[in-house]
Amino acid sequence: MALASSPALATMRSTFISLAALCSLLPSVLGHGQVRNFIAASGTYPAADAYAAALPNSPIRKLNTYGPAADFTSATITCGEGGNTPVTALATVNAGETVTFDWGSWGSSHSGPVRYDIHGQMSQWLRQFQGRQRQYLEIDQDVYHPARTAMPWGENILHNGGKYSVVIPDGLANGEYIIRHEILGLHVAGNLMGAQFYPNCVQVKVQNGGSKTLPAGLALPGAYKPTDPGILTQLWWFSPSNATYVAPGGKVTFPGGTGDWGAWKYGS
Ligand SMILES: *[C@@H]1O[C@H](CO)[C@@H](O)[C@H](O)[C@H]1NC(C)=O
Repeated sequence: MALASSPALATMRSTFISLAALCSLLPSVLGHGQVRNFIAASGTYPAADAYAAALPNSPIRKLNTYGPAADFTSATITCGEGGNTPVTALATVNAGETVTFDWGSWGSSHSGPVRYDIHGQMSQWLRQFQGRQRQYLEIDQDVYHPARTAMPWGENILHNGGKYSVVIPDGLANGEYIIRHEILGLHVAGNLMGAQFYPNCVQVKVQNGGSKTLPAGLALPGAYKPTDPGILTQLWWFSPSNATYVAPGGKVTFPGGTGDWGAWKYGS
Protein backbone atom coordinates (compact mmCIF):
# COMPACT_ATOMS: atom_id res chain seq x y z
CA MET A 1 0.00 0.00 0.00
CA ALA A 2 3.05 2.23 0.25
CA LEU A 3 2.78 2.28 -3.54
CA ALA A 4 -0.56 4.10 -3.44
CA SER A 5 0.63 7.15 -5.34
CA SER A 6 3.30 5.52 -7.49
CA PRO A 7 3.24 5.82 -11.27
CA ALA A 8 3.65 2.04 -11.43
CA LEU A 9 0.39 1.53 -9.61
CA ALA A 10 -1.35 4.11 -11.79
CA THR A 11 -0.11 2.18 -14.83
CA MET A 12 -1.26 -1.07 -13.26
CA ARG A 13 -4.65 0.47 -12.60
CA SER A 14 -5.09 1.72 -16.15
CA THR A 15 -3.83 -1.61 -17.49
CA PHE A 16 -6.30 -3.37 -15.27
CA ILE A 17 -9.13 -1.12 -16.43
CA SER A 18 -8.34 -1.65 -20.11
CA LEU A 19 -7.95 -5.39 -19.55
CA ALA A 20 -11.26 -5.45 -17.73
CA ALA A 21 -12.87 -3.60 -20.65
CA LEU A 22 -11.30 -6.05 -23.10
CA CYS A 23 -12.46 -9.03 -21.07
CA SER A 24 -16.01 -7.76 -21.02
CA LEU A 25 -15.88 -7.68 -24.83
CA LEU A 26 -14.22 -11.07 -25.11
CA PRO A 27 -15.59 -13.21 -22.31
CA SER A 28 -13.76 -16.31 -23.53
CA VAL A 29 -10.37 -14.59 -23.35
CA LEU A 30 -9.98 -13.85 -19.68
CA GLY A 31 -6.36 -12.85 -19.67
CA HIS A 32 -4.37 -15.73 -18.20
CA GLY A 33 -2.11 -17.37 -20.75
CA GLN A 34 -0.13 -20.35 -21.88
CA VAL A 35 3.43 -21.53 -22.35
CA ARG A 36 4.79 -19.67 -25.38
CA ASN A 37 8.15 -21.38 -25.88
CA PHE A 38 10.00 -24.40 -24.64
CA ILE A 39 13.73 -23.71 -24.69
CA ALA A 40 16.28 -26.51 -24.78
CA ALA A 41 19.87 -26.85 -25.99
CA SER A 42 18.49 -28.29 -29.22
CA GLY A 43 16.46 -25.15 -29.92
CA THR A 44 13.55 -22.93 -29.02
CA TYR A 45 10.21 -24.55 -29.72
CA PRO A 46 7.26 -22.15 -30.07
CA ALA A 47 3.78 -23.20 -29.01
CA ALA A 48 0.70 -22.70 -31.13
CA ASP A 49 -1.51 -19.96 -29.75
CA ALA A 50 -4.60 -21.44 -28.14
CA TYR A 51 -6.81 -19.31 -30.40
CA ALA A 52 -4.87 -19.85 -33.65
CA ALA A 53 -4.05 -22.75 -35.94
CA ALA A 54 -1.89 -25.66 -34.81
CA LEU A 55 1.85 -25.49 -35.48
CA PRO A 56 2.73 -28.86 -37.06
CA ASN A 57 6.32 -28.77 -35.79
CA SER A 58 5.53 -27.78 -32.21
CA PRO A 59 6.15 -30.39 -29.51
CA ILE A 60 3.93 -28.38 -27.14
CA ARG A 61 0.41 -29.75 -26.80
CA LYS A 62 -2.00 -27.17 -28.20
CA LEU A 63 -4.53 -25.71 -25.79
CA ASN A 64 -7.88 -24.27 -26.83
CA THR A 65 -8.12 -21.56 -24.17
CA TYR A 66 -5.89 -19.25 -22.14
CA GLY A 67 -8.11 -20.12 -19.20
CA PRO A 68 -7.60 -22.75 -16.53
CA ALA A 69 -8.43 -26.46 -16.62
CA ALA A 70 -11.72 -25.52 -15.08
CA ASP A 71 -12.82 -28.85 -13.68
CA PHE A 72 -9.56 -29.98 -12.11
CA THR A 73 -11.12 -33.30 -11.11
CA SER A 74 -11.64 -34.19 -14.79
CA ALA A 75 -9.27 -35.24 -17.58
CA THR A 76 -8.52 -31.60 -18.47
CA ILE A 77 -6.18 -31.45 -15.46
CA THR A 78 -3.79 -33.76 -17.31
CA CYS A 79 -2.57 -31.37 -19.98
CA GLY A 80 -5.15 -28.55 -19.98
CA GLU A 81 -8.22 -27.76 -22.06
CA GLY A 82 -7.50 -29.29 -25.49
CA GLY A 83 -4.04 -30.43 -24.40
CA ASN A 84 -4.74 -34.13 -24.14
CA THR A 85 -4.47 -34.55 -27.90
CA PRO A 86 -0.95 -35.74 -28.74
CA VAL A 87 1.11 -33.81 -31.28
CA THR A 88 3.54 -35.49 -33.63
CA ALA A 89 6.67 -33.44 -32.81
CA LEU A 90 9.16 -34.03 -30.01
CA ALA A 91 11.74 -31.66 -28.54
CA THR A 92 15.11 -33.35 -28.15
CA VAL A 93 16.64 -32.91 -24.68
CA ASN A 94 19.58 -34.44 -22.84
CA ALA A 95 19.17 -36.13 -19.48
CA GLY A 96 20.51 -33.70 -16.89
CA GLU A 97 19.95 -30.67 -19.11
CA THR A 98 18.27 -27.50 -17.84
CA VAL A 99 15.25 -26.60 -19.95
CA THR A 100 13.15 -23.46 -19.75
CA PHE A 101 9.47 -22.71 -19.99
CA ASP A 102 8.67 -19.25 -21.29
CA TRP A 103 5.15 -18.07 -20.47
CA GLY A 104 5.64 -14.94 -22.60
CA SER A 105 3.21 -12.20 -21.75
CA TRP A 106 1.68 -14.02 -18.79
CA GLY A 107 1.25 -10.93 -16.67
CA SER A 108 -1.80 -11.47 -14.56
CA SER A 109 -1.56 -11.83 -10.83
CA HIS A 110 -2.41 -15.44 -10.10
CA SER A 111 -0.23 -16.02 -7.08
CA GLY A 112 0.25 -19.63 -6.16
CA PRO A 113 2.65 -22.49 -6.63
CA VAL A 114 4.14 -23.85 -9.82
CA ARG A 115 5.09 -27.46 -10.40
CA TYR A 116 6.75 -29.67 -13.00
CA ASP A 117 5.96 -33.25 -13.64
CA ILE A 118 7.39 -35.80 -15.95
CA HIS A 119 5.62 -38.73 -17.44
CA GLY A 120 7.04 -41.55 -19.46
CA GLN A 121 7.28 -43.46 -21.62
CA MET A 122 4.97 -41.65 -23.95
CA SER A 123 3.75 -44.78 -25.71
CA GLN A 124 2.65 -45.96 -22.28
CA TRP A 125 0.89 -42.62 -21.74
CA LEU A 126 -0.93 -43.04 -25.03
CA ARG A 127 -2.19 -46.43 -23.94
CA GLN A 128 -3.19 -45.10 -20.56
CA PHE A 129 -4.95 -42.19 -22.20
CA GLN A 130 -7.74 -44.57 -23.14
CA GLY A 131 -9.69 -43.78 -19.99
CA ARG A 132 -7.18 -44.92 -17.41
CA GLN A 133 -5.15 -43.01 -14.89
CA ARG A 134 -2.22 -40.93 -16.05
CA GLN A 135 0.64 -41.07 -13.61
CA TYR A 136 2.86 -38.02 -13.36
CA LEU A 137 5.98 -37.75 -11.27
CA GLU A 138 6.80 -34.40 -9.77
CA ILE A 139 10.33 -33.26 -10.51
CA ASP A 140 10.20 -29.74 -9.13
CA GLN A 141 7.89 -27.33 -7.44
CA ASP A 142 8.11 -23.81 -6.16
CA VAL A 143 5.60 -22.90 -3.50
CA TYR A 144 5.78 -20.01 -1.03
CA HIS A 145 9.11 -18.49 -0.02
CA PRO A 146 8.51 -15.27 1.94
CA ALA A 147 12.21 -14.44 1.99
CA ARG A 148 11.89 -13.82 -1.75
CA THR A 149 10.03 -10.64 -0.87
CA ALA A 150 9.03 -9.33 -4.29
CA MET A 151 8.01 -12.75 -5.62
CA PRO A 152 7.22 -15.10 -2.75
CA TRP A 153 5.07 -17.45 -4.84
CA GLY A 154 6.43 -19.56 -7.67
CA GLU A 155 3.93 -17.99 -10.03
CA ASN A 156 5.26 -14.50 -9.32
CA ILE A 157 8.49 -15.43 -11.10
CA LEU A 158 6.55 -15.79 -14.33
CA HIS A 159 5.15 -12.27 -14.33
CA ASN A 160 6.12 -9.90 -17.10
CA GLY A 161 8.13 -12.17 -19.33
CA GLY A 162 9.59 -14.29 -16.56
CA LYS A 163 10.84 -17.75 -17.40
CA TYR A 164 11.23 -20.82 -15.28
CA SER A 165 13.79 -23.56 -15.66
CA VAL A 166 13.84 -27.15 -14.57
CA VAL A 167 16.40 -29.92 -14.84
CA ILE A 168 15.57 -33.02 -16.84
CA PRO A 169 16.44 -35.81 -14.38
CA ASP A 170 20.07 -36.83 -14.74
CA GLY A 171 20.49 -40.44 -15.75
CA LEU A 172 16.91 -40.78 -16.92
CA ALA A 173 16.52 -43.60 -19.43
CA ASN A 174 16.40 -42.49 -23.06
CA GLY A 175 12.92 -42.35 -24.52
CA GLU A 176 9.88 -40.23 -25.10
CA TYR A 177 8.35 -38.40 -22.17
CA ILE A 178 5.87 -35.68 -21.38
CA ILE A 179 6.92 -32.76 -19.23
CA ARG A 180 3.98 -31.11 -17.60
CA HIS A 181 4.30 -27.61 -16.22
CA GLU A 182 1.53 -26.18 -14.09
CA ILE A 183 0.68 -22.87 -12.48
CA LEU A 184 -1.89 -22.96 -9.69
CA GLY A 185 -3.59 -19.60 -9.16
CA LEU A 186 -5.03 -19.25 -5.67
CA HIS A 187 -6.71 -15.84 -5.98
CA VAL A 188 -10.26 -17.32 -5.72
CA ALA A 189 -9.27 -20.58 -4.03
CA GLY A 190 -11.45 -19.72 -1.04
CA ASN A 191 -14.40 -20.88 -3.19
CA LEU A 192 -14.94 -24.60 -3.63
CA MET A 193 -13.47 -25.47 -7.08
CA GLY A 194 -12.16 -21.90 -7.34
CA ALA A 195 -8.49 -22.87 -7.54
CA GLN A 196 -7.21 -22.28 -11.08
CA PHE A 197 -4.81 -24.83 -12.51
CA TYR A 198 -2.97 -24.01 -15.74
CA PRO A 199 -1.26 -27.18 -16.97
CA ASN A 200 0.79 -27.21 -20.18
CA CYS A 201 2.53 -30.26 -21.66
CA VAL A 202 5.52 -30.62 -23.91
CA GLN A 203 6.55 -33.88 -25.53
CA VAL A 204 10.27 -34.57 -25.32
CA LYS A 205 12.71 -37.19 -26.53
CA VAL A 206 15.40 -37.75 -23.90
CA GLN A 207 18.86 -38.70 -25.16
CA ASN A 208 22.26 -39.24 -23.49
CA GLY A 209 20.45 -40.76 -20.54
CA GLY A 210 21.20 -43.59 -18.17
CA SER A 211 19.29 -46.40 -16.57
CA LYS A 212 16.87 -44.56 -14.25
CA THR A 213 13.25 -45.31 -14.86
CA LEU A 214 10.37 -43.44 -13.29
CA PRO A 215 8.55 -44.95 -10.33
CA ALA A 216 4.77 -44.68 -10.06
CA GLY A 217 3.68 -41.07 -9.75
CA LEU A 218 0.51 -39.12 -9.12
CA ALA A 219 -2.71 -39.83 -10.92
CA LEU A 220 -3.93 -36.74 -12.73
CA PRO A 221 -6.89 -36.62 -12.66
CA GLY A 222 -7.46 -38.08 -9.24
CA ALA A 223 -4.70 -36.64 -7.07
CA TYR A 224 -6.26 -33.19 -6.67
CA LYS A 225 -9.30 -33.08 -4.40
CA PRO A 226 -11.56 -30.02 -4.16
CA THR A 227 -11.04 -29.79 -0.39
CA ASP A 228 -7.28 -30.43 -0.26
CA PRO A 229 -5.68 -27.85 2.06
CA GLY A 230 -3.60 -26.42 -0.79
CA ILE A 231 -6.64 -26.17 -3.08
CA LEU A 232 -9.46 -24.85 -0.85
CA THR A 233 -7.45 -22.09 0.77
CA GLN A 234 -7.01 -18.32 1.00
CA LEU A 235 -4.09 -16.51 -0.53
CA TRP A 236 -4.17 -13.88 2.22
CA TRP A 237 -3.55 -16.48 4.91
CA PHE A 238 0.08 -16.74 3.85
CA SER A 239 2.63 -14.25 5.10
CA PRO A 240 6.14 -14.34 6.53
CA SER A 241 4.61 -15.23 9.90
CA ASN A 242 2.31 -17.90 8.46
CA ALA A 243 4.39 -19.35 5.67
CA THR A 244 3.44 -23.03 5.59
CA TYR A 245 1.48 -23.64 2.42
CA VAL A 246 1.03 -27.33 1.58
CA ALA A 247 0.92 -27.76 -2.19
CA PRO A 248 -1.49 -30.35 -3.55
CA GLY A 249 0.04 -33.52 -4.92
CA GLY A 250 2.57 -33.98 -2.16
CA LYS A 251 6.28 -33.54 -2.09
CA VAL A 252 8.63 -33.72 -5.02
CA THR A 253 9.56 -37.27 -5.88
CA PHE A 254 12.39 -38.29 -8.12
CA PRO A 255 14.10 -41.59 -8.77
CA GLY A 256 17.01 -41.72 -6.38
CA GLY A 257 15.75 -39.10 -3.99
CA THR A 258 12.84 -37.21 -2.52
CA GLY A 259 12.37 -33.67 -1.37
CA ASP A 260 12.27 -30.24 -2.90
CA TRP A 261 14.70 -30.24 -5.74
CA GLY A 262 15.37 -26.58 -5.17
CA ALA A 263 16.06 -26.21 -8.85
CA TRP A 264 14.10 -23.01 -9.33
CA LYS A 265 15.73 -20.31 -11.38
CA TYR A 266 14.36 -17.39 -13.23
CA GLY A 267 15.91 -16.03 -16.33
CA SER A 268 15.87 -12.74 -18.15
C1 LIG B 1 -2.28 -19.71 8.46
O1 LIG B 1 -2.35 -20.66 7.40
C2 LIG B 1 -3.25 -21.73 7.65
C3 LIG B 1 -3.13 -22.66 6.45
O2 LIG B 1 -1.83 -23.17 6.39
C4 LIG B 1 -4.65 -21.21 7.83
O3 LIG B 1 -5.52 -22.28 8.14
C5 LIG B 1 -4.69 -20.19 8.92
O4 LIG B 1 -5.96 -19.62 8.99
C6 LIG B 1 -3.67 -19.10 8.67
N1 LIG B 1 -3.63 -18.16 9.76
C7 LIG B 1 -3.85 -16.84 9.56
C8 LIG B 1 -3.73 -16.02 10.82
O5 LIG B 1 -4.13 -16.35 8.51
